[in-house]
Amino acid sequence: MNPEYSDIRKKKIDELISGYPERRAAILPVLHITQKEFGQITSAEEKLVAELLDIKPIEVHEVVTFYSMFNQKKVGKYHIQICSNLTCTLLEAGNLLEYLQNKLGIKPGETTNDEKFTLSTVECLGACEEAPVMMVNFDYHGHLDKKKIDKLLDNLK
Ligand code: FES
Repeated sequence: MNPEYSDIRKKKIDELISGYPERRAAILPVLHITQKEFGQITSAEEKLVAELLDIKPIEVHEVVTFYSMFNQKKVGKYHIQICSNLTCTLLEAGNLLEYLQNKLGIKPGETTNDEKFTLSTVECLGACEEAPVMMVNFDYHGHLDKKKIDKLLDNLK
């Protein structure tokens, strides 16, 4: 079955698109709304967005796969994304990833059974000066160490 937006989200998308000189220029906010609506952006949602914006599904796919904030499958309530790029790796991000895996009992790409946490690795989060860095949903957490991770996870439980 093809995904369909709720009436309220469809109305919001139509209003949003009307504010841009070209429909395609609304792709990022439309993708955010789409993710809120469906919890993920699979090829079915990409096709839906492409139809709305009069572009090809591959063009939507290019954007979805470029930005780490778009999820190609459903994630838990808290999506933990730890940077695995050079600066963070040099400052022990690999050890912190292992620590998170042990604490949560999941590997990157997996979600805890209670659907509370999803763990992912991502390329540079653009906050190298605070390395090692991770994001929990849309919040950045830098200068990480095991103690900070413990405190953060305790606050989310
Ligand atoms: S390398 Fe990790 S934030 Fe840039």
